Amino acid sequence: MKLIYIVISLLLILQSYSVYALQNHPLAILWDIDDEDVPEWLELERDLIAIDDILRPILEEEESFISSFGGTYINIFNRTIIVNTVDFSKVDELLALPQIKPYNNSLYFKEANNSLSQLKNNFVEITWLSKLKHAKNLYILTDMEYNNIVLYFFDKQDNNTEFLNAVKPFNPTIFYFNQEETPQTRIRPRRDVNNSKREINSKLLSGDGIYNSANSGHCSVGFWAENIDKQDPLYIITAGHCFDYTSSTNDFYYLPWDWNATQTNLSYIGPMIYRTEYPDFSVIQVDGEDVSPSFAIRNTDNDQYKEFIITGDAPLSSHGVHACKSGYTTHFTCGFVKGLNGIFIREESFRSDLIVTDLYSESGDSGGPVMSFVSPQNLNSVVLHSIHIAGGAGLSAAHSIDKIFEDLKDLCCINRLKDLVLYLGNS
Ligand SMILES: *[C@@H]1O[C@H](CO)[C@@H](O)[C@H](O)[C@H]1NC(C)=O
Ligand SMILES: *[C@@H]1O[C@H](CO)[C@@H](O)[C@H](O)[C@H]1NC(C)=O
Ligand SMILES: *[C@@H]1O[C@H](CO)[C@@H](O)[C@H](O)[C@H]1NC(C)=O
Ligand SMILES: *[C@@H]1O[C@H](CO)[C@@H](O)[C@H](O)[C@H]1NC(C)=O
Ligand SMILES: *[C@@H]1O[C@H](CO)[C@@H](O)[C@H](O)[C@H]1NC(C)=O
Ligand SMILES: *[C@@H]1O[C@H](CO)[C@@H](O)[C@H](O)[C@H]1NC(C)=O
Ligand SMILES: *[C@@H]1O[C@H](CO)[C@@H](O)[C@H](O)[C@H]1NC(C)=O
Repeated sequence: MKLIYIVISLLLILQSYSVYALQNHPLAILWDIDDEDVPEWLELERDLIAIDDILRPILEEEESFISSFGGTYINIFNRTIIVNTVDFSKVDELLALPQIKPYNNSLYFKEANNSLSQLKNNFVEITWLSKLKHAKNLYILTDMEYNNIVLYFFDKQDNNTEFLNAVKPFNPTIFYFNQEETPQTRIRPRRDVNNSKREINSKLLSGDGIYNSANSGHCSVGFWAENIDKQDPLYIITAGHCFDYTSSTNDFYYLPWDWNATQTNLSYIGPMIYRTEYPDFSVIQVDGEDVSPSFAIRNTDNDQYKEFIITGDAPLSSHGVHACKSGYTTHFTCGFVKGLNGIFIREESFRSDLIVTDLYSESGDSGGPVMSFVSPQNLNSVVLHSIHIAGGAGLSAAHSIDKIFEDLKDLCCINRLKDLVLYLGNS
């Protein structure tokens, strides 16, 4: 028995070595391909996104299409954009459009029952009912793959009978999440970390941990921001719920990955000076002198790709594409976009307009950056989309950074925060 165990362990070790030799880049792991194939696949994904960007507005805005097609999503494995099709008689009309014609071979028309107008209507109705009937602990999203509104309940103990009865006419797809079913496939094995050997690097990266001394809470750095005129001071954006309401001051400290707040002297960052719940984000003013700004994202579990450089920010608008996050608890993980107007309801809080992905996260990752790779020529560069704010049931939810900057401009009380932009160094 023991011998068999040893043999099995050896096999496992060999297997994981061979996997790591070929799959270092996060996209190689996500797509289960070799590192050397990542540029080609990424280029393909970029091409499909560009076509989808042309196609989506046509399907959404043309009167005759919105009730004939049921949304699109990108399936990189099929090398196609799947177009949910309710009325096949409209396909020729669509393919005849000069903007669409050149791409006919990238489109796959799939039989579907729900048109985009039906999906939009059902989403509004179900959202309204979730408030009216006090729905508990779930995500609501328009899932193009299911061509339906999908409800993911993540606490089976809840009594959602009233809500479920009320939404029956809209026939949503329903999933109940059991703790044992946590998808484990994307959890990367951790390398052993030797804290005593670690250099104390005061450059604070997106995805690093931060520690709130008011409640001993752990969160993650989303990104650095500066005033558009590049005046001091600098700021760090993280999740709003990292704030502790019971304390008058919330001071934040740098908590490096794999460090334990109780054992170490942590570098002071500064106080939280603004926070909101909708959207869920906050602003920390950096007063501490031991931390310096950066526009890189931490991935130091990986020897080959330790940091990714943020080249800018952009919205995410296609379903089915990749997205990744970096955070204190689960470090760097990637997944696929499942919904772009998602709702997350937990206890008393209702958060909407969320980017929902199936990337893996845990508590402590809140605030961490959500990004995607965009350059087949430079696999170290990323664009920033959002900050992670909630997770569970195999899904993660994030607020787009446009929403954050909009809120600061329109609603924020502190004048010097109105013109914040993403910090990108002295470029
Ligand atoms: C797309 O790929 C999946 C596997 O990734 C396969 O199951 C499915 O049949 C393919 N669909 C089409 C339309 O080719
Ligand atoms: C795409 O268009 C080309 C040229 O117009 C045509 O030859 C081809 O059959 C079309 N393919 C599909 C899948 O419709
Ligand atoms: C559409 O609805 C019909 C009737 O309910 C069902 O039989 C069929 O499987 C559905 N098609 C798809 C693609 O979901
Ligand atoms: C759930 O709530 C409904 C209506 O509020 C009630 O009739 C039912 O008994 C409850 N079920 C359980 C298991 O508590
Ligand atoms: C950690 O690193 C230190 C200094 O290099 C070394 O003395 C120590 O043995 C290492 N510990 C482990 C568990 O590898
Ligand atoms: C952190 O350190 C404290 C005190 O040494 C210990 O009780 C606790 O279990 C540690 N926590 C973790 C997550 O390692
Ligand atoms: C933490 O800081 C205090 C005060 O500066 C110092 O006395 C102590 O030795 C430090 N502890 C560690 C583990 O560095």
